[in-house]
Amino acid sequence: MAGKIFILNGPNLNLLGVRQPEIYGSETLADIEALCAARAKDLGLAIDFRQSNVEGELVGWIQEARDGAAGIILNAAAYTHTSIAILDALKAVDIPVIEVHLSNVFAREDFRHHSYVSLAATGVICGFGSAGYLLALEALAKQQ
Ligand code: DQA
Repeated sequence: MAGKIFILNGPNLNLLGVRQPEIYGSETLADIEALCAARAKDLGLAIDFRQSNVEGELVGWIQEARDGAAGIILNAAAYTHTSIAILDALKAVDIPVIEVHLSNVFAREDFRHHSYVSLAATGVICGFGSAGYLLALEALAKQQ
C-alpha cells in the first residue's frame, strides 16, 4: 500500500494508563503505539502515530493526510462529540477513515452517543480497548 496510515489521538489520551483505568485500561499510549507498529509491520503497512490535546493541531494533521496518506485511524476522544472542525477536515480527505474508541461509548453517558466523526467515517470500532486500533489496521489493509 502506498502512503502511511495516520493514527491520530485526541485530548487526554496521553494520560492512558493512569486516567480512569477502570474505563480505559492500564496500557499507555506508548504501549498502544508499539502494538500498532508490530501489527502494521505484519500487514505490510507504515504508520505515523500521533497525539494532541489541541483541536487545531488534529485538524492540521487531517489536512496533512490529504498529501498521500493511505488512511486515517482516528480516536478524537472528547472532540468526537463536539468538533465540527474535525468533521469538516475529514470531509475534505478522500481516503478511508476508521473511527476508534477504547471504551464502548454507547454504554456510557448520553453525550458520548453522538459522534461528528462518524458522519465522515468509513467504519467505527468501539469497546475493544487497544484491540480496536489493531482491528482498524486490519480493516484498512483489506480496504486497499
Ligand atoms: C474515548 C471516548 C470519548 O468519549 C472520551 O472523551 C475519550 C476517549 C475512548 O477512546 O473511549 O477521551 O474516545
